[in-house]
Amino acid sequence: MAFVTSEQMMALADQNGYAVGAFNVENMEMVMAVVKAAEEMRAPVILQTTPSTVKYAGLPMYYANVKAAAERAGVPVALHLDHGSSFELAMQAYRTGYTSIMIDGSKLPFEENIALTKRVADACRPSGIPVEAELGKVGGKEDDLDVNDPGYTDPEDAVRFVQETGITSLAVAIGTAHGIYKGEPKLDMDRLSEIRGKVSIPLVLHGASGVPDEAVRECIRRGISKVNFATELRIAYSNGVKDFLKENPDAFDPKKYGRVAMEYVTALVKEKIKICGSDGRA
Ligand code: 13P
Repeated sequence: MAFVTSEQMMALADQNGYAVGAFNVENMEMVMAVVKAAEEMRAPVILQTTPSTVKYAGLPMYYANVKAAAERAGVPVALHLDHGSSFELAMQAYRTGYTSIMIDGSKLPFEENIALTKRVADACRPSGIPVEAELGKVGGKEDDLDVNDPGYTDPEDAVRFVQETGITSLAVAIGTAHGIYKGEPKLDMDRLSEIRGKVSIPLVLHGASGVPDEAVRECIRRGISKVNFATELRIAYSNGVKDFLKENPDAFDPKKYGRVAMEYVTALVKEKIKICGSDGRA
């Protein structure tokens, strides 16, 4: 149907008590697999790339892949820069045609995070490109970013951060982490509710791989309207390739194992879309 920005799909999710699934993609097969899942579920969807993914193939490659898949799709599709690590990278993504941008100044002191985030939000606003930013620190390892000292989002700081930066959505740190969890994550649900009570823009949950389904649902009930999944997709894709090659060690046609990898990713993304409650919303 359309290659769109993430703003309207997140606003609708926010108003109607579900979340849009945001899925990290690394290559053409993952793009195709995620969009196929969204179409089969009739769900709006966000595809996103981190800076290290961008380094792997370049912004124009992901843009071209996602745009082509979106234009053929019967559901709204957005392309988001995940964890934009600098003003320059955010602007490159914006100029390339990404329809949604995250600037991640969460490692910076509060005032510097505000200044960087505001600069990106001001630059994107005239074209209606939505900007997500993070306050507090989501733990774990995502990309080149290894956070050993996670810090939860302070609700009062969140109010000031949103007012002063003009962002359109806020990633909150409530105890999730990127990557694989050792044991079950303990999420600060009361903190999430308190932030939701004070901040009116859509809220984003990072680090959802490995979070129990019921905890993700509870976060959505408490006001999350975008949920990010990366690690589980990478695992699903790799398992597809491994399983095929184990059965067919002499195979050499990338289309053969690519197809299996896509099936694994599509099946996983369909499950995640159901957990988000975005099925049947497009
Ligand atoms: P996971 O790798 O834990 O799914 O985190 C995804 C994420 O938050 C991407 O920004």
